[in-house]
Amino acid sequence: MWDTLWVDANLATMIPGGRPYGAIMRGAVAAKDGEIAWVGYAADLPKPPDELAREVRRCADAWITPGLVDCHTHLVFGGDRAREFELRLQGASYEEIARAGGGIVSTVAATRAASRAELVKSAAKRLAGLTREGVTSVEIKSGYGLDLENEIKMLEAAGELGALGNVRVKRTFLGLHALPPEFKEDRAAYVQLVADVMIPAIAAVGLADAVDAFCEDIGFTADEVDYVFSSACENGLAVKLHAEQLSNQSGAALAARYQALSADHLEYLDDAGIAAMAQAGTVAVLLPGAFYFLRETQAPPIEKLRAAGVAMAVASDCNPGTSPMTSPLAALNMACTLFRLTPEEALAGMTREGARALGLLDDVGTLEVGKAADLALWDVKSPAELCYWLGAPLLRERVFAGRAV
Ligand code: NIG
Ligand code: FE
Repeated sequence: MWDTLWVDANLATMIPGGRPYGAIMRGAVAAKDGEIAWVGYAADLPKPPDELAREVRRCADAWITPGLVDCHTHLVFGGDRAREFELRLQGASYEEIARAGGGIVSTVAATRAASRAELVKSAAKRLAGLTREGVTSVEIKSGYGLDLENEIKMLEAAGELGALGNVRVKRTFLGLHALPPEFKEDRAAYVQLVADVMIPAIAAVGLADAVDAFCEDIGFTADEVDYVFSSACENGLAVKLHAEQLSNQSGAALAARYQALSADHLEYLDDAGIAAMAQAGTVAVLLPGAFYFLRETQAPPIEKLRAAGVAMAVASDCNPGTSPMTSPLAALNMACTLFRLTPEEALAGMTREGARALGLLDDVGTLEVGKAADLALWDVKSPAELCYWLGAPLLRERVFAGRAV
């Protein structure tokens, strides 16, 4: 007997190669012990539903997708940056504010001042924004502590959120996010601290799955990132990179040299970067929320990424400075309107490709037997509606590891 069987539903399995969205009309999906035990056409079920599962859920023609995977967020932080938003509306740029000691560094002060419990409490509200729109897996970065104690506090808070929110959490250590004020006069010492002390310490206690960095004029140089990435590799952690967001630093090519899981943002990505990513299988994570919120004008080279066969994921980038957005569906809409992804590409970007970008594709991201039974049930007549509406309450039910939550 299966634990639960969903019938009278249409499935967007997101398995590539067949019908759009890997769709199965009048499908059924079953869960046992938290995993998908059966997927297919309801007509092919071996017996009547009630003889197959302890609980049968009739879905009145809802669409079922894999639970959404938000593969790039900075959900945990103290304070907010609404004041900075006002300054930017008066004409100050993100870079000017950062150079004047605002920006990320101001969130660092607020995050250091917050207790772990306070961080969990404020992030839980943002996480609820994601889960009420179907997210079942989320990546959460550190990067607003910038010393060992506060980075660990952030990563522990991120871990607590998993159990609290019924969501799978992947944690990323983002030590090279900004130069902390106490190292203003000695960049090299901070980079060394991150590589030689913080990464080994964090890896030793299993608090992170990956290492990220902000490769940018107002962040860190490719050489500095290179140094930190070698430490990540030595310590058995995957890497990913904020690359080519505001300028071209050849960060994506560097990330690809390290077989990075992903390179993220990519507005200024060049042809060499695309080729390197294609070769390495590095996922392009598109973050239209940050593009929108910073009022950027140069979009990532979507057409060329597509032509090169680079996998494209879409994420919220929820953070206080460049994407204070807790709506994954809004990110899907923006990926289509601003970056010209097709709705199918956008939805794949927040399911299958988001999972790939987290190294989780064997576990989640498509509706396939043996993967976790992480599902989202939607009140829509076609999957394209998930990218079309802005702000509509489309989620009917979220299923995490086989349980409706
Ligand atoms: O993904 N660019 C670096 N990191 C974030 C922004 C962080 C912040 O401004 O607080 C991003 O855009
Ligand atoms: Fe980011």
